[in-house]
Amino acid sequence: MSSARKGKVSVIGAGFYGSTTALRLAEYDIFESVVLTDIVEGKPEGIALDINQSRPIEAFETTLIGQTTTADGDGYGAIEGSDVVVITAGLPRKPGMSRMDLIEVNAKIVRGVAENVAKHAPDAVVIVVSNPLDEMTALTQLATGFPKNQVLGQAGMLDTARFSNFVAAALHVPVGAVRTLTLGSHGDTMVPVPSRCTVTIDGQQRALTDLLAAGTIDELVTRTRNGGAEIVALLKTGSAYFAPSAAAARMAKAVAEDSGAVMPVCAWVDGEYGISGVYLGVEAELGARGVRKVVETKLTEAELAALRMAA
Ligand SMILES: NC(=O)c1ccc[n+]([C@@H]2O[C@H](COP(=O)([O-])OP(=O)(O)OC[C@H]3O[C@@H](n4cnc5c(N)ncnc54)[C@H](O)[C@@H]3O)[C@@H](O)[C@H]2O)c1
Repeated sequence: MSSARKGKVSVIGAGFYGSTTALRLAEYDIFESVVLTDIVEGKPEGIALDINQSRPIEAFETTLIGQTTTADGDGYGAIEGSDVVVITAGLPRKPGMSRMDLIEVNAKIVRGVAENVAKHAPDAVVIVVSNPLDEMTALTQLATGFPKNQVLGQAGMLDTARFSNFVAAALHVPVGAVRTLTLGSHGDTMVPVPSRCTVTIDGQQRALTDLLAAGTIDELVTRTRNGGAEIVALLKTGSAYFAPSAAAARMAKAVAEDSGAVMPVCAWVDGEYGISGVYLGVEAELGARGVRKVVETKLTEAELAALRMAA
């Protein structure tokens, strides 16, 4: 059990993504409190009560606070003083939909949420997960007026985790032995970076390209790119949330702990890779103010061209 719990993280939207993120954050047992909000009356309060009742069993002390909010901003007082706010409010995809099909309805929701976050938690680092991800991250920065480093989005952590999971399964190795990387957008223009992927076997780090045939890597890349849609098709209603919430929670933790961890995230790019003026999936060092810096990695010509295309 952690001895010094501090800080407050708020999660906006108590759907599948938001509630699992709140649970993961609480189970880290490093925060004083985790606030969960939603516009559906009673939903965040009910989930908070449920999670709090799991504390004696799972042995964590972080307190969950549930708060119903209105579009006018009633209830947003609960997020005051947050170090991090995770925005999960918005509709998920249905089978056959692309993330872009959500843009109109989710832009309205995310804009309203972002304005309330700016009013009540002006110092918070904001992590956006609502889809379409890159666009909603950019919109959140505009609507909050926050410095660009203070707003980032979650996609790369998830895409990378999906890629690593598929590689581990294909090679029958532990996931912990696999390092993969994906950059670019969350969707069709995702840029997997096989040249940076490694697998540790018998203590030796090997290049993925030496272990799997190019065709097999391509198949895994395609499955990764369609990773969200594959789960949407299986679930029939709703989209993935276990792996996505793990990704967002890790990012929030890195910010809260000012850890300097380098993660693939959706960050404002200003000259890196010769690209400027856009939110894009890149590796970035995270700290208490959000993105400390974008970390450039060596890419092949083809990977760089794909990243520019995504931008
Ligand atoms: N970035 C990623 O990698 C990734 C992965 C999975 C899902 N997502 C996205 O995350 C979002 C949430 O997914 P989900 O599975 O939790 O959906 P969900 O339908 O289970 O939950 C969405 C919640 O948002 C709430 N909400 C709507 N408007 C709100 C508002 N103005 N203020 C507060 N809450 C509001 C709804 O009442 C609902 O409880 C979707 O847009 C989905 O596409 C992103």
